[in-house]
Amino acid sequence: MKYKVRIEPIGVEVSCDGNQTILDACLRNGVWVPHACTHGTCATCKSRIIEGEVDFGLASNFALMDFEREEGYVLLCTAKPRTNLVIEADVEVEEGIEFYPVKDFTGKVVEILDCARDTRKIQIEIENDKIFYLAGQYIQLYIPGTEQNRAYSIASRPLKDGNSTIELHIKRVPGGLGSGYVFEELKEGDKVRFAGPFGRFIFRKNFDNPILFFGWWNWTCPN
Ligand SMILES: Cc1cc2nc3c(=O)[nH]c(=O)nc-3n(C[C@H](O)[C@H](O)[C@H](O)COP(=O)(O)OP(=O)(O)OC[C@H]3O[C@@H](n4cnc5c(N)ncnc54)[C@H](O)[C@@H]3O)c2cc1C
Ligand code: FES
Repeated sequence: MKYKVRIEPIGVEVSCDGNQTILDACLRNGVWVPHACTHGTCATCKSRIIEGEVDFGLASNFALMDFEREEGYVLLCTAKPRTNLVIEADVEVEEGIEFYPVKDFTGKVVEILDCARDTRKIQIEIENDKIFYLAGQYIQLYIPGTEQNRAYSIASRPLKDGNSTIELHIKRVPGGLGSGYVFEELKEGDKVRFAGPFGRFIFRKNFDNPILFFGWWNWTCPN
């Protein structure tokens, strides 16, 4: 069942499925609201419900205390609508910057290259679509056989007409679920699923202050 969620103070209305978190609905409709952990523990997405009812989901008791729930606060990353809603969120609208809506993608791995110690370059060709993003944003890669995903920064340059291929640089983390999948299972030709773009750590062309960029590249290829 779909519900309407109006986000104040901007007055934008988005549609949210009863099985979808309010945060997900906002991001997929191009409305950026603050968030970080996306699983109910950091409280970055805490917002107030002005009208309507929600299922609080798996919000931790530390991030959202009982008295806050009674006062109408929710964590947007875990809360799902049970009625149409009006919420008050800390929405930031930045002049001159267009944030692209989050979408789901499927793609094929066309290249895997060990490009530095314990670091793998993965080239993904998107099927029947293009992704639009801003430099600095990231995707959430779904880990097959689990209900989990992991954030990976998009290492390729965003193109004006959208990118049909993206590159990720993934470091091995001992015992890691996501990097374990990338290093132990993923092969060229495999299909992958991901969602994006996410993140506000982007290059702002209108920013007047000096910006220091730095990077490091280990050119010793283990192959
Ligand atoms: C916005 C964002 C962008 C990111 N971009 C990239 C990227 O471009 N490339 C990339 O490789 N990673 C990136 N990461 C990190 C990535 O999302 C995963 O956290 C990382 O791959 C580890 O996930 P895992 O499933 O392999 O490990 P998990 O299964 O989550 O963790 C396994 C164990 O390793 C520990 N651990 C987790 N991460 C690290 C670490 N970095 N160093 C040491 N111990 C760790 C955990 O505490 C745990 O004990 C990004 C994260 C964020 C939030
Ligand atoms: S983003 Fe961390 S609690 Fe919602």
